[in-house]
Amino acid sequence: MVALTTKQTVAVIGAGTMGAGIAQIAAAAGHPTLLFDANPEAIGRGIGQIDAGLRKQVARGRMSEAERTTLLANITAATRLDELSEAALVIEAILEDLEVKRQLFAELESLCGEQTILATNTSSLSVTAIAARLARPGNLVGMHFFNPAPVMKLVEVVSGVTTSPAVAQTVFDTAAGWGKHPVYAKSTPGFIVNRVARPFYAEGMRLLEEGAADVATLDAIMREAGGFRMGPFELMDLIGHDVNYVVTSSVYAGFYYDPRFLPSLIQKELVDGGLHGRKSGQGFYDYREGAAIASAVDAPAAPPPETIEITGELGIAEPLVALWKQAGIRVKRTEGNGWIRIGHTRIALTDGRSATRRGAADHLTDTILFDLALDYATATRFALCPGDNATPEALQQAVGLFQALGKPVSVIADIPGMVVMRTVCTLANEAADTVFQQVCDVAGADTAMQSGVNYPLGPLAWAERIGLPRVLTVLENLRQAYGLDRYRISQLLRRKVEGGTRFYA
Ligand code: NAI
Repeated sequence: MVALTTKQTVAVIGAGTMGAGIAQIAAAAGHPTLLFDANPEAIGRGIGQIDAGLRKQVARGRMSEAERTTLLANITAATRLDELSEAALVIEAILEDLEVKRQLFAELESLCGEQTILATNTSSLSVTAIAARLARPGNLVGMHFFNPAPVMKLVEVVSGVTTSPAVAQTVFDTAAGWGKHPVYAKSTPGFIVNRVARPFYAEGMRLLEEGAADVATLDAIMREAGGFRMGPFELMDLIGHDVNYVVTSSVYAGFYYDPRFLPSLIQKELVDGGLHGRKSGQGFYDYREGAAIASAVDAPAAPPPETIEITGELGIAEPLVALWKQAGIRVKRTEGNGWIRIGHTRIALTDGRSATRRGAADHLTDTILFDLALDYATATRFALCPGDNATPEALQQAVGLFQALGKPVSVIADIPGMVVMRTVCTLANEAADTVFQQVCDVAGADTAMQSGVNYPLGPLAWAERIGLPRVLTVLENLRQAYGLDRYRISQLLRRKVEGGTRFYA
């Protein structure tokens, strides 16, 4: 099978947030598109929503008036389900309820031809379960779009146990033809994105719970050092805690309460209190009129050191050396294992141990760690953490060293793995496990996270950039520090390190 041709009709059922967006995509690609909803008023609202979006595009010069009218002319409101019988592809985006979806597909199967592909936009139900009572379960596939559907490129093409590979391929090729970035996924809890992204939120909330820093500082570190478009707290506030908490709980339950996915009590408190984020006016931040705007805490200015000694190589942080030289700091290089020394002060990239533990291991006190950055040259913030017995002078020296690069520095409490490193390593671990368990392939996992949630790099590509042995060490140290299954190491990641191989050839 190949992609559908634009002569073939696409039908969308459910004209809500997702269905309207999906109908717009199919119509923009040139398909005659039918839009149906159990509630006739919803169809008008859905088409209105599409038109409002298109008018904005025209106003911004991104679309011509002729394109807008052509696109809208491709969409027809269907008033009865049997009007969809001629469709080659029917995409369902109704209520997230297994029984309701099963009934709808049973009815559709009796109305449509044997070749009609039935697709579900479910984000949390098993595709196999939705297909269970069909006479032709092979025709049913998951086609999981992301909100807003016309903007987000990712489409997870989800196969249940009974989905025909040819059907999945047609949907994949069709989505690619629509300009989307489709990836294949096996029907398992959370598919790819809603599973692999869990640590992004969970680690943020664990850091907050453990007093690493306040939300604005943690968000700023993730954005300005980590290169993420949004930090975890502002993103959860945007998604809505009711929605985000339900997704976490559903993945947690889906994996038979694997402690790896344990939801956060901090988030439960917000949900219980009706503090759902932006939409309710309060979440981690306060959006109410007149509320103070929380901003990141910057360390006070400290003088730069004249000379530093670097023992050995800094690995992924090596670009810092040239930057420090440019900033006028004399750099002396000696043999060793990746420490930056200023007198008695020792500074290093986090390896997943706390600074206190790392200092104690070497019977040294003035130990300061720094966090991972996506790109040290373009990062606009650095994060440091001092060991419990580091002197204020040692911290000042480290702060001065990083401020010498003209960027603000955040000092956080001594939490194992810090912020960006801990998040990226746990994301990579989950992505590796998702690949290991045959849910998707390496490129699929990375594409999903870049196109579905805008990560600056796919977690597996990022792990390779950090160095897989370092990622494994961070995870082993986190596991040792907390003794939690949350940091259980993916066998695939371990194998790559032990065999000296890579995710990407
Ligand atoms: P929505 O509530 O905005 O729209 C659902 C529409 O389906 C409503 O207009 C409703 O009248 C209609 N509907 C309900 N039962 C129906 C039936 N039996 N037959 C025909 N129409 C029926 O919901 P939304 O957010 O668009 O979600 C739809 C589906 O997409 C759900 O399965 C959801 O899990 C999934 N999804 C939602 C995302 C989101 O961000 N909102 C993202 C990805 C997937």
